[in-house]
Amino acid sequence: MYLFIFFFLFSSVVAEISYNLPGRNQNSIDFLIFYIHRLNKPFLLGGWFRAGSNPSFYYMGVDSAVFYGNASGTSGFINFNPVYETNLTPDTFGTMMQAFIPQGFLNKRVQLTCFVKYTNVTDYAGMWMRVDTNTTQTLDNMSNRPLKGTGDWTKCVSVLDVHQDAVNLAFGVLLSNAGQVWFNQFEFTIVDNNTQTTSLYVGDLSQPLNTTGEINNPINLFGPNN
Ligand SMILES: *[C@@H]1O[C@H](CO)[C@@H](O)[C@H](O)[C@H]1NC(C)=O
Ligand SMILES: *[C@@H]1O[C@H](CO)[C@@H](O)[C@H](O)[C@H]1NC(C)=O
Ligand SMILES: *[C@@H]1O[C@H](CO)[C@@H](O)[C@H](O)[C@H]1NC(C)=O
Ligand SMILES: *[C@@H]1O[C@H](CO)[C@@H](O)[C@H](O)[C@H]1NC(C)=O
Ligand SMILES: *[C@@H]1O[C@H](CO)[C@@H](O)[C@H](O)[C@H]1NC(C)=O
Ligand SMILES: *[C@@H]1O[C@H](CO)[C@@H](O)[C@H](O)[C@H]1NC(C)=O
Repeated sequence: MYLFIFFFLFSSVVAEISYNLPGRNQNSIDFLIFYIHRLNKPFLLGGWFRAGSNPSFYYMGVDSAVFYGNASGTSGFINFNPVYETNLTPDTFGTMMQAFIPQGFLNKRVQLTCFVKYTNVTDYAGMWMRVDTNTTQTLDNMSNRPLKGTGDWTKCVSVLDVHQDAVNLAFGVLLSNAGQVWFNQFEFTIVDNNTQTTSLYVGDLSQPLNTTGEINNPINLFGPNN
């Protein structure tokens, strides 16, 4: 998985450089749009990777022009690529995510928050968090409180128990079907047992999960000046 990510980062850089050559398709609006995406938003910050049912249907990257509040900083973004309009199914989604080994959160109730801005979301957008043990998973993906249509910065809150045996904590923002989302200021907080969990799904894994997190903490959470 991480090899793939590094390859993608590297190929993004290559794409930026090769499309930056003068005199190439300069009249094509499609090209210009592609070029602007590549020029301004070519990278994912370390720790983040692209996933989902069809990650290739979405542009995902870092936008330093859009940020919640008065601080300067960067946001992550996911934009559906309209070229794939006819390929959409009800299950199509893309996500930008991280996964880590939640050593510091074991046996704690953990709240994740972030801010999401969204435009023309046809199905739904939301922050999500999932806790895996070797045999179970617990998920909240906001499908019961979806962000739809267009909205300004909205605080998203998710609360899950991290079991003593947890081996992986994955989280991110997803965009189901078409639209655009931006997100920043992810924050993890340990909360007390009076805070209700927002778990939507608890299930057994049919076979042991191979730990996906290789880091012990979330990193580059799109804070101010980040
Ligand atoms: C931004 O600054 C204005 C003026 O100081 C203030 O009223 C507003 O609450 C600030 N917004 C945020 C999100 O901090
Ligand atoms: C959102 O949809 C409206 C109505 O179709 C359209 O006018 C507008 O340009 C769209 N916005 C973006 C950012 O695509
Ligand atoms: C989860 O499975 C891995 C691989 O089999 C094992 O090394 C680890 O000890 C297990 N963790 C727990 C908490 O059971
Ligand atoms: C919350 O509940 C868990 C599991 O019952 C317990 O281990 C933990 O000590 C409790 N935390 C607080 C702050 O009461
Ligand atoms: C969100 O979670 C619900 C409940 O587990 C699930 O049915 C649905 O497929 C999930 N949606 C996405 C986009 O992952
Ligand atoms: C975990 O890895 C083993 C060995 O590579 C593989 O057989 C198994 O299908 C994997 N399990 C999952 C849930 O991906």
